[in-house]
Amino acid sequence: WQLIKPRERSLPPVVFHWFPFIGSSISYGNDPINFFLKCREKYGDVFTFILFGRRVTVALGPKGSNFVLGGKLAQMSAEEAYTHLTTPVFGKDVVYDVPNEVLMEQKKFVKVGLSLENFRAYVGMIENEVTTFLNTDSAFRTFQMDDINEWGSFHSFRVLAEITILTASRTLQGKEVRNGLDKTFAQRYNDLDGGFTPINFLFPNLPLESYRKRDKAHQAMSDFYVDLIRKRKTGESNEAEHDMIAALMQQSYKNGRELSEREIAHIMIALLMAGQHTSSTTGTWTLLHIADKPEVGEALYKEQVENFGTGIEGEFRPMTYEELKALPVLDAVIREALRIHPPIHSIMRKVISDVPVPPSLSAPSKDSTFVVPKGYFVLSSPAVSQVDPRVWRDSLEFDHTRWFEDDGVAQQAYKTYADENGEKVDYGFGAISKGTESPYQPFGAGRHRCIGEQFAYLQIGAIIATIVRKLELRLEGGMPAHNYHTMITTPKDPCDIRYRRRHFDLNGST
Ligand code: HEM
Repeated sequence: WQLIKPRERSLPPVVFHWFPFIGSSISYGNDPINFFLKCREKYGDVFTFILFGRRVTVALGPKGSNFVLGGKLAQMSAEEAYTHLTTPVFGKDVVYDVPNEVLMEQKKFVKVGLSLENFRAYVGMIENEVTTFLNTDSAFRTFQMDDINEWGSFHSFRVLAEITILTASRTLQGKEVRNGLDKTFAQRYNDLDGGFTPINFLFPNLPLESYRKRDKAHQAMSDFYVDLIRKRKTGESNEAEHDMIAALMQQSYKNGRELSEREIAHIMIALLMAGQHTSSTTGTWTLLHIADKPEVGEALYKEQVENFGTGIEGEFRPMTYEELKALPVLDAVIREALRIHPPIHSIMRKVISDVPVPPSLSAPSKDSTFVVPKGYFVLSSPAVSQVDPRVWRDSLEFDHTRWFEDDGVAQQAYKTYADENGEKVDYGFGAISKGTESPYQPFGAGRHRCIGEQFAYLQIGAIIATIVRKLELRLEGGMPAHNYHTMITTPKDPCDIRYRRRHFDLNGST
């Protein structure tokens, strides 16, 4: 009988730094992806860095994602990591202000609102909003002029942010919110958004004016939703069409208790914040790549003509949701933009009881193992795997056609990520077994995986299709760099896109 010696336990290596409290905050904050890649070269896939006094253990690669995103509830907590940022913005009793099992119930309620029937109704609404925007917004002055040869330009991120909130409010958020956008709602939204920044995450209790504005805006916004729910209940307002508020008003918890008006209000704020920046930046990066590579714009246009053209150039029939979902070029272009520019570069959990790192991910030696102690944070960055040259050919190159390669790396990575049955898939350098262990995870994985993915594809797809039908796009000076100083990875300025109306408008020929 041989005695099996337990593995010795040690802490993951700490990234070298000069100043104790600041640690690696500056390098991480300026360019997290580059920082992670450099650390990986020196320390391997698992290492700890100091972020303004916090100890953050990074676990890279698909196995690292599996460790963090597939972590046990008793060991890792999302609410402990995020609540100080999100609760002042979303409000009490929802998302990370409640135990995980309550969040899981709330996510189910939201799924009811994200129904096929609602999605079918949304496509036309989005087309309509985008068309009105192009016809009326001052950024599209040239679009509204007679001289079709005139090129104009617009700030990609500003325009997409505007279109995203208009379309999200027209669809998910409901008519009252859409109408409020022209009035006080927009200002409240901006103030609330000013409280959803990396500074708020790092320093939750600063006596700053923006924090005061955030709290005031939250209260006003919460009251606005409660008021509109009451009006709907009493029949004073009859705006319910296919929106999320209508769906949430029908839901109750397992114990039979209905969602309160405040809970509905706060879930609506959470959805607004969760969807706005993620979808608007994804739309922006997609449009920038289309403008950078005119052949991509032409492939998208051709797809529109082939599927929805009426035979008269420049005229299209409306899309149905089913048709929109089945457009391979549009789908691949968005998927590729999400691969290179996933909006969320760091997914965090707080360690609530010591957690050993699986030796297959990283171990100091064959007889010992790393342990991440209680009180640390763990961090997964799917963004790193999504551009890993060991997985993807020409990993930084925007090439939507990689998604058409039959069972190529991209297809396999996607299958694994989308697979909820836990089947094993071989994607190149090792077998992966479930969605938590995939090199493609722009919407996260596991228990906290995004529920907005289908809506995001619908919204971004309908926006891009409507723009591509009407405009030719060009980018001068190449793709903008990433700005990591915002909560969500945005493009740095300048990020203007040049555009011109498609030529058939002139005299019937392109
Ligand atoms: C969670 C990305 C759009 C609602 C997540 C997570 C990611 C993500 C990475 C996981 C976070 C974590 O594990 O800590 C994205 C991207 C989007 C998008 C890339 C668009 C391109 C949306 C939209 C909605 C939404 C439109 C709402 C309609 C949520 C919710 C969660 C979530 C409720 C769950 C949070 C949890 O369970 O902890 N999203 N999201 N997202 N997202 Fe999205």
